[in-house]
Amino acid sequence: MSHDARKRAAAAAALTLVEPGMRLGLGTGSTARHFVDLLAARVAAGLAVICVPTSEATRAQAEAGGITLTTLDETPELDLTVDGADELDDELRLIKGGGGALLREKIVAAASRRMVVIADDSKLVDCLGRFPLPVEVNPFGYRATLHALKQTLAGQGFDGVALTRRQKPDGAAFVTDGGHWIVDCALQRIAAPEALSRALLQIPGVVEHGLFLGLCRKAYVATETGLAEIGPNA
Ligand code: A5P
Repeated sequence: MSHDARKRAAAAAALTLVEPGMRLGLGTGSTARHFVDLLAARVAAGLAVICVPTSEATRAQAEAGGITLTTLDETPELDLTVDGADELDDELRLIKGGGGALLREKIVAAASRRMVVIADDSKLVDCLGRFPLPVEVNPFGYRATLHALKQTLAGQGFDGVALTRRQKPDGAAFVTDGGHWIVDCALQRIAAPEALSRALLQIPGVVEHGLFLGLCRKAYVATETGLAEIGPNA
């Protein structure tokens, strides 16, 4: 099975959790895109749900698919969010933000009674960190924030790691839906994600980071041989 077919299989599994009348958070990325596609087909067949997208890209896809959208201002509590991940470990700790939507993804996940991750098995890791950790920063005072970020990471045992401001193909800074920049941190191995999370959030110019800790309740991970479920209800 191709990576794409695995992503779709994981998305199809998560779709079984959706019930009529639910308030859903819609994730961002190539795996979440499969979920939105499959959900749109159910909506076309009569399923009534209302959804909050985690990015403008997902908003456009959902609107094109005829899915009814709402906002967290109108609907501050959601039943279920289904999203992809760049990495997950067996404690359901995640790295997200490879697509640049981590801030809205985290806000939506935190507003949901349940967050479920869908992924192919290339995302499952023993230890988080091989995927560069995205840190979303305010452009104001960028050099000062970058300096503080280096100091903070050194204090957490990550001395001299490569920090790269994310760019678009034309070389301009990648700008998130919220108007911020992203610094990708090549940490390789994050042995203590909780401590790192706390330290990063102490930096005033850091808006959010891509460690999702204590948010995901269940994951559907599609492998070559079938679907693995990780989580308390597995
Ligand atoms: C978007 O910002 C990310 O958090 C995505 O959810 C993550 O990068 C997974 O994307 P894919 O499903 O495309 O791998």
